[in-house]
Amino acid sequence: MGQNRQILLEHIRQPDQHTLAGYESRGGYEAVKKAIAMDPLAVIEEMKKSGLRGRGGAGFSAGMKWSFVPRNSNKPVYIVCNADESEPGTFKDRLLLEKNPHAVIEGMMIAALAVQSHWMCVYIRGEYAYPYAQLKQAVNDAYAKGYLGKNIFGTEYSLELVVHRGAGAYICGEETGLLESLEGKKGQPRLKPPFFPATMGLYHSPTVLNNVETFASVPWIIKNGADAYSAIGTEKSKGTKLMSVSGHVNKPGVYEVEMGYPFKRFLEEECGGMLNGRKLKAVVPGGSSMPILTAEEIEDATIDYECMNKLGTYLGSGGVIVMDETVDMVDALRNLTHFYAHESCGQCTPCREGGHWVEKIFNRMYDGEGLPGDLELLDSICSQIAGHTICMLGDSIVMPVKSYTTKFKDEFRQRIEEALEGKKVERQGLNAKFESSH
Ligand SMILES: Cc1cc2nc3c(=O)[nH]c(=O)nc-3n(C[C@H](O)[C@H](O)[C@H](O)COP(=O)(O)O)c2cc1C
Ligand code: SF4
Repeated sequence: MGQNRQILLEHIRQPDQHTLAGYESRGGYEAVKKAIAMDPLAVIEEMKKSGLRGRGGAGFSAGMKWSFVPRNSNKPVYIVCNADESEPGTFKDRLLLEKNPHAVIEGMMIAALAVQSHWMCVYIRGEYAYPYAQLKQAVNDAYAKGYLGKNIFGTEYSLELVVHRGAGAYICGEETGLLESLEGKKGQPRLKPPFFPATMGLYHSPTVLNNVETFASVPWIIKNGADAYSAIGTEKSKGTKLMSVSGHVNKPGVYEVEMGYPFKRFLEEECGGMLNGRKLKAVVPGGSSMPILTAEEIEDATIDYECMNKLGTYLGSGGVIVMDETVDMVDALRNLTHFYAHESCGQCTPCREGGHWVEKIFNRMYDGEGLPGDLELLDSICSQIAGHTICMLGDSIVMPVKSYTTKFKDEFRQRIEEALEGKKVERQGLNAKFESSH
């Protein structure tokens, strides 16, 4: 594979890319003008053919999702953009919102035309103050130019867009939790079935809900054609993917890579290799809830859905967390389980109670008070959480716990043995820093 193809970040370094004039000077809003002249069903077919899969985590086909929206519904049809971006290690949507907000708006508009929606909303996390300001300005400018509002581009079509700020709850990134929050209620996920957004979404009306990066990919596809998009990537992973990289590399940041790009090469060349020349220990490939990969597993891995699944993990949101040999896995997992336990919305007993039990076990293990049988106890708790909850947050607790304690079992066992021998080791890890800053 040659150089990485740039679709989403191609013009990101242009200082005026976030402005309407800058975006249009590089071909912006040509795709939506093309889509207006197309049969809505042809737009959906084009999206299906492109092979674009949702970039929010689950990787479901965008075109298929749009095709589930009933035609000629007697209810309003909504378009919702998920800009909650709350998965630890993930910060790619933020870059698009700050530097290329019109691409997100244009992608949403094309989706609206495809499903004949006249109402759109971006749900953006409250902490994203600057991305909100950039997006809001872009929306205002699009309204001022007649691209949004009544009779867009001088046609009969009206299309409204609201930007709604969340209050900073991880669970409002889950699509049905987001919709509840948008309706002014507590952000507690709904049962699926029956509440699949495409048919029973916002105010129980048909709703297309996609991630920021998914929408931002749409204009290029409509402008250049599905075949051009599907020619990039692998058999089941088409196009490019934004990867947000944090941790022990020399150049953390957001990168766009062609699907199928070698993972190790990505870390070494794009991300500048390991910080301080240290050895790679492990990589979280797609946001902190995804099963971790060891350095050996990364060796021949490629960045795409198929390879990650073969390795028992997921590409998820593309939030890569790189850990070097100094990372204490007990500490890392204690930190993660604290987050997921804290973010449980509390509806399901296995998630609400189990999350805290798991956190407590890692707390005592970290403090040198681990007990024999703790790993078996964790296994038992995890098996009672996974698959027994309304939403996937339950599994988000289980997947890291299972993968870390399996792949780095010796570290966990050693910590328990040290406790039995009465050794209390002074540790200065992640949580020491975490606690001192809170
Ligand atoms: C606990 C939880 C948190 C989530 N957080 C986000 C998020 O912050 N942003 C996002 O786009 N998707 C998030 N998702 C995935 C959404 O539920 C949904 O699948 C996605 O927004 C759909 O868009 P896509 O098809 O374009 O990926 C989350 C899912 C779960 C279970
Ligand atoms: S799994 Fe957890 S976060 Fe999801 S609905 Fe149940 S209690 Fe809420």
